[in-house]
Amino acid sequence: MSDDSRPSPAPARTAAVIPAAGRGVRLGPGAPKALRTLNGTPMLIHAVRALAASRAVSLVVVVAPPDGAGEVKSLLDAHALPDRTDFVVVPGGDSRQESVRLGLDALPPEYDIVLVHDAARPLVPVDTVDGVIEAVREGAPAVVPALPLADTVKEVGPAAPGEPEPVVATPVRARLRAVQTPQGFDRATLVRAHETVTEDVTDDASMVEQLGLTVVVVPGHEEAFKVTRPLDLVLAEAVLARRRLNDGF
Ligand code: C5P
Repeated sequence: MSDDSRPSPAPARTAAVIPAAGRGVRLGPGAPKALRTLNGTPMLIHAVRALAASRAVSLVVVVAPPDGAGEVKSLLDAHALPDRTDFVVVPGGDSRQESVRLGLDALPPEYDIVLVHDAARPLVPVDTVDGVIEAVREGAPAVVPALPLADTVKEVGPAAPGEPEPVVATPVRARLRAVQTPQGFDRATLVRAHETVTEDVTDDASMVEQLGLTVVVVPGHEEAFKVTRPLDLVLAEAVLARRRLNDGF
């Protein structure tokens, strides 16, 4: 039997985990952040559609608030989503990290690549999603989309009560990046990171860094910004209005 007749390995399958269990207190009072609407559609639905827009993504796992899985399931059922993608809802935990871990636990064995995407980034373009997947397929254990910074960043020290914070360092701006999601991972690496790293982190890639592995950066996109403060809701609706206008031509 020649080498050519060997069956080629099955292509890596990609799933997305969307942690959406946060309360989003910085947006002010009201519905949980992921359920806030943008142009009448919940932010979570925008985020789910953004990930399912990639032809490589065949499963999306949404991590709902611990007491809200039924509500989130009904929400997904009530909105049009691509037929070629499977959708699963699981209850989340007290921290983002725990929510992601619970999402990972729900993945069937055949998925080799995992994206983790914040529900709070509802407008990430499909090219950014595909760019992350491509870099994982090419062999990176962890991939983050990122942009250069406009602002100079200062590190501050603790302040005495009532005193202004002292600046202790100014990292070189040209070497800093603002990191977005989806972050992409070799599944086994991300699972190991979640089993190994127990302290609080603000993104999944930093857990892989703590394993001593290299995380690589691909270009992010300005429309992948995180909806955090009330002004971000205005910006997100403006982006949607611009897209609608462009689609009309
Ligand atoms: O709070 P932050 O903006 O960093 O949250 C990022 C993402 O993590 C959001 O999509 C939020 O819903 C999610 N999250 C979660 N479970 C928590 C806390 C946050 O899924 N316990």
